[in-house]
Amino acid sequence: MDPRPIGIFDSGIGGLTVAKAVGERLPNERIMYFGDTAHLPYGDKSQTAIQAYSIKICNLLLERNCKAILIACNSASAAAFDLVKEYVGSRALVFNVIDPVVQFVAQEFNGYSIGLIGTKQTVNSGIYSSRLEALGKSGLKSLATPLLAPMIEEGFFNSRISEEIISEYLSHKSLEEIAALILGCTHYPLIKKQIDAYYAGKVEVIDSSLIVADALAKSLEENSLLNTGKMQGRHHFFVSDYTESFEHSTKLFFGEALNLEYYHLWE
Ligand code: DGL
Repeated sequence: MDPRPIGIFDSGIGGLTVAKAVGERLPNERIMYFGDTAHLPYGDKSQTAIQAYSIKICNLLLERNCKAILIACNSASAAAFDLVKEYVGSRALVFNVIDPVVQFVAQEFNGYSIGLIGTKQTVNSGIYSSRLEALGKSGLKSLATPLLAPMIEEGFFNSRISEEIISEYLSHKSLEEIAALILGCTHYPLIKKQIDAYYAGKVEVIDSSLIVADALAKSLEENSLLNTGKMQGRHHFFVSDYTESFEHSTKLFFGEALNLEYYHLWE
């Protein structure tokens, strides 16, 4: 039994969709969440900047004795996973939100055409394509959809405006004739219903948060790192820049309102 917390980080509060799935899948585990709201959004940042932010956040999570670190942000997973894994070494297990989904898709949709939507950073990095190609699956169809994350943060989902933006993106020729669509951004589970409605059952829409939480649980078990007893202490949700509006939005992403704790990480 290992009661140490699981560190989860994201560019902001969108990663709470992943934290929520982890909390539900692993109710005995304590979560130490860090949202880098001072640098949000990561989706438009350079790889170098995201790598620097990620290393600094990992230092905090390691200082706080995390047994595992989950990069709960597609943009940071694309830009910094290899570096973070090397940096953390044997001090903690490191996970990203891309590899479990790639494995799922390669298994479940072998022989079918797959689509991906995400931030510019994620899509332009080509990481989903290269990881899929390594598993023998080529021809990923992808489209950067940078308007979606800010739209969701502003509360525009399940509305006429969001429906128009979603259908404009999804009807783009880059996403033609796909059997499944990967939601490659932390925010998109909130518009899954609308995306499902757009495709009317013709395309399988893949919410990565559940797949990631499951992969994390299996790996912790394999490595004898699960907390088999009751959770000790409580979850913490740190942010690098506190505003009431961020705190208010936690309900959207986590399903319940959270107290965000300001953590002074940047000079
Ligand atoms: N968390 C980011 C992602 O999953 C979306 C928000 C951002 O651009 O920072 O790509």
